[in-house]
Amino acid sequence: MCGIVAYIGERDATPIIIEGLKKLEYRGYDSAGIAVLSDGLIGVRRDAGKIRRLEALVAEQPISGNIGIGHTRWATHGAPSQQNAHPHLSANGRVVVVHNGIVENYLTLREELSAEGVEFRSETDTETIAHLIEKFYAVEKDLFRAVQKTLQRLKGAHGLVVMSADEPDRLIAARLGNAGGVAIGVGEGEMFIASDVPAIVEHTRNMVFLESGQIAIIRKDHFQVENLAGKAVTPKLQTIPWDPVSAEKGNYRHFMQKEIHEQVRALSDTLIGRVDFDNYRIKLDGLNLDEQTAMSIQKIFITACGTAAHAGMVGKILLERIARIPVEVLVASEFRYADPIVGENDVVLAISQSGETADTLAAMEEGRKKGALLWSIVNAIGSQAMRQADGCISMQAGPEIGVASTKAFTAPLMDLYMLAVYLADVRGLLSRSRRIELVKDLLKIPSLVEKALEREPEVALIAEKFKDVKGALYLGRGINMPIAYEGALKLKEISYIHAEGYPAGEMKHGPIALVDKELPVVVIATKDDWYDKMISQVEQAKARGGKVIAVATEGDELIPTLADEIMWVPKTPWLLSPVVDVIPLQIFAYHIATALGLDVDQPRNLAKSVTVE
Ligand code: AGP
Repeated sequence: MCGIVAYIGERDATPIIIEGLKKLEYRGYDSAGIAVLSDGLIGVRRDAGKIRRLEALVAEQPISGNIGIGHTRWATHGAPSQQNAHPHLSANGRVVVVHNGIVENYLTLREELSAEGVEFRSETDTETIAHLIEKFYAVEKDLFRAVQKTLQRLKGAHGLVVMSADEPDRLIAARLGNAGGVAIGVGEGEMFIASDVPAIVEHTRNMVFLESGQIAIIRKDHFQVENLAGKAVTPKLQTIPWDPVSAEKGNYRHFMQKEIHEQVRALSDTLIGRVDFDNYRIKLDGLNLDEQTAMSIQKIFITACGTAAHAGMVGKILLERIARIPVEVLVASEFRYADPIVGENDVVLAISQSGETADTLAAMEEGRKKGALLWSIVNAIGSQAMRQADGCISMQAGPEIGVASTKAFTAPLMDLYMLAVYLADVRGLLSRSRRIELVKDLLKIPSLVEKALEREPEVALIAEKFKDVKGALYLGRGINMPIAYEGALKLKEISYIHAEGYPAGEMKHGPIALVDKELPVVVIATKDDWYDKMISQVEQAKARGGKVIAVATEGDELIPTLADEIMWVPKTPWLLSPVVDVIPLQIFAYHIATALGLDVDQPRNLAKSVTVE
């Protein structure tokens, strides 16, 4: 959940690390710190609050040097405070550590170290790591070996970077389990380390990603990697295609607003290379799927968290309707505990923006153990979920910085649709005309999304009217039921207004008791097979004095006579309607949160990638 940035080279490490941390602030933002080595001494600046507080601190008390490490934190052990902020020094001040993850046995280690006379200065689990390294260094006289020994003592999942005043020509980075990534950016005479690509991609696009159980010694002009057992590993150098400019806010007020508008581009990009425009066929080379395997698939288990799980729910309908393959959707945090009946002819398909969500990775591991084929739909290039899968569809959405996911929701909807068409085609279920129709529908989507986005000013006016509500009910049916869940999630996570998504038909079984003139009922009542049923829900809510806000299809003449407010969307082929119908709900949540003056990109208590279970 936290962000790590480190540098070694000829330049001043401080501004490079601070600028990198700013790009990772979405990962955690309750405290931040930096440690820089200069003239044989480690200088540390750290404080509670966001990076701008750290920046001010460094301006008041400058530090500089050619090697340093930095961290932005999402608190797990110990409140957000100066003393709990990373980096953490060892007792003698010669070793300093930044860390992602949780030391599950930290109480035992703390007791052990305290009994040996170590005085702890923070409440964090991370401090035990710094003390252990110091202890092993006293024996080994080698930082790399000391870190290796320390890792052998830690339970849990970890990503960390270590610096020592006694070995000023190197940084040690390591990854154990799934506590976020560790990317090494290879420059010319300089190296960068980060938990996430956006922090360092402006400096180099050549990167190596550590696998679990790997430790690297990084010097300014070369690096080497070993596994925990001390065996040398030859890592694969990857070139990151991202444009650093796309990780900037541009003229938008917030990343979230920018990312909402980027959906037109993101959705077009996700089609590139996958749609054969001459033959109206889908090809998904990244899946590495042969015809025989495609024919043998019996069931697909989709697993994901939060917004990605909502995309999975739409995916179930797409895969079942188009490819006629049974699909079960299991929230990733429940996957292992549900002990699902997964067999060798089944697929476990994980969906994840970050590709580092601990619950999702654990579900993938469980799928692997049960012998399933592993697929993933992932945005972050080089992430664990991308690397661990047998086949992957890369979202092509580009970096998503806003904590509330938007373009990384609609992109996988397109991917799931393409997957359904592809599987149906390979399994011989589609006539030529049906296939052409399905692919043509897909190609219409970016411009339909653009039309929906043009209505932002109208939606903003509705948001202004409803900004002071205490709660909201979102209703949807069929393929738009998950859109009700997603609309409610968007509102609650950035505006802190309680919102519930419900299958529309369930309203009469309970939630209708909530409906009064204070409670807005947001209905997705676009022209599809469930339209008449949705109209009945609108009538039922109105009969109880509810205020109805409808997402409706342009040209619908009935809905204006019933609903209080309308968010118009263009007519869209129904299987793809969630991609378009969610747009006004994203905009609505965004404008309510901005009208309330809230921190849209970094809402309280949340982090962009949740690397703890
Ligand atoms: C989305 O707005 C949320 N912040 C959250 O639900 C998110 O979708 C979830 O944590 C999964 O993240 P992932 O896609 O990176 O795995």
